[in-house]
Amino acid sequence: MKQMRLGIIGCGGMEKSHEKGIEGLEDSVRITAVCDIVEERAGKAKELLKADMAVTDYKEMLPFVDAVLVVLPHHLHYPVGMTCLEAGKHVLMEKPLAITESECLDLVHLADEKKLVLMIGYVMRYNPLVLKAKELVESGAIGDPFQMSIWTEQFTRFPDDRLWGHKIATLGGGQFFSHGCHYVDLLLWFLGRPVRGFHIGTNRGTPWMEKEGSSNVVLEFENGITAYHFGTWGARGSRLRSSMHIHGTEGMIDIRVNEGKVLILKFGQPEQVVLDSLGQKNTHGQMAHFLECIRTGNRPLTDGIGSLQSLRVIWRLYEAEQKNVAADLRGLGLDEPWDVPGLSLLPE
Ligand SMILES: NC(=O)c1ccc[n+]([C@@H]2O[C@H](COP(=O)([O-])OP(=O)(O)OC[C@H]3O[C@@H](n4cnc5c(N)ncnc54)[C@H](O)[C@@H]3O)[C@@H](O)[C@H]2O)c1
Repeated sequence: MKQMRLGIIGCGGMEKSHEKGIEGLEDSVRITAVCDIVEERAGKAKELLKADMAVTDYKEMLPFVDAVLVVLPHHLHYPVGMTCLEAGKHVLMEKPLAITESECLDLVHLADEKKLVLMIGYVMRYNPLVLKAKELVESGAIGDPFQMSIWTEQFTRFPDDRLWGHKIATLGGGQFFSHGCHYVDLLLWFLGRPVRGFHIGTNRGTPWMEKEGSSNVVLEFENGITAYHFGTWGARGSRLRSSMHIHGTEGMIDIRVNEGKVLILKFGQPEQVVLDSLGQKNTHGQMAHFLECIRTGNRPLTDGIGSLQSLRVIWRLYEAEQKNVAADLRGLGLDEPWDVPGLSLLPE
């Protein structure tokens, strides 16, 4: 199998998770180059990953890579992604794809035109716990599902040299846009086409955030299933931490992400642990899928189009929140036509 030459752009916090994800894939990928504007960070990553080069300008690595992993502040996803695609490189882009509708469309269209893989790092979709839960729902293990709830309770305050994570212009929104995009994507994947929803956010408790640092979302889907997501970057304590519950007519699936467990709960029956996967890495499955898509030419499970649809859900929810109305989410399922004039009339 041809060993893919991969370049990593951005060697900050999340890049460390990707380093682990690459372990075990050495037959199919080699990190030839790493980049960070902070020379020391690039140097450390080069040493750790045994890369050939460390650079502070990502353009210098382009002749030496077949594909790039972009792990940068969100406002840089677009310019860096476009330059890499223009240069003929496959792109694994950390989420979110970009921070505006037109930026996302440009990236998706350019990747298509150049016949390159553009995959988004919605890492939860490659999480064995989530995959198991999806399999259980589809096999009817809890009967007909009618409610999915997701909690992510974290304390996230970026240090002084990473204040991009607090500002709308560089983050693209608030906690909901930045972190909640994972869960909107999951809800669409599990439940289908949303029809309406509400978002209420606050930065009370997280005054360092320019937009919301805590987020509450309620969604209704075409099939009558409802969903709820609460995410915060202001948790000073938590029991649920990262949890998902799916209720069905015959039981509940309990995904305890931090414990690495999936359980089925049914009244009058002992709890059934159906997966205990602590230690399995999501970035590993994600990278393996990216490499497989490059090799086969298949469209990634988390492609640019699906990613755009889930970001549109967030933009519509933000817009409706400002207007104090329910958001009309029709037309935004992962399987809905996506390149539709009119859907583009969203915040820039
Ligand atoms: N999937 C997840 O669970 C998850 C978790 C955290 C972060 N992320 C994503 O990863 C990305 C990066 O987040 P992070 O937490 O690692 O941020 P970070 O601030 O820790 O790291 C970003 C790095 O990019 C470097 N950088 C900035 N401008 C650059 C430029 N022009 N050229 C080269 N390097 C540059 C910075 O010096 C820094 O080291 C974001 O898209 C974020 O949403 C994903």
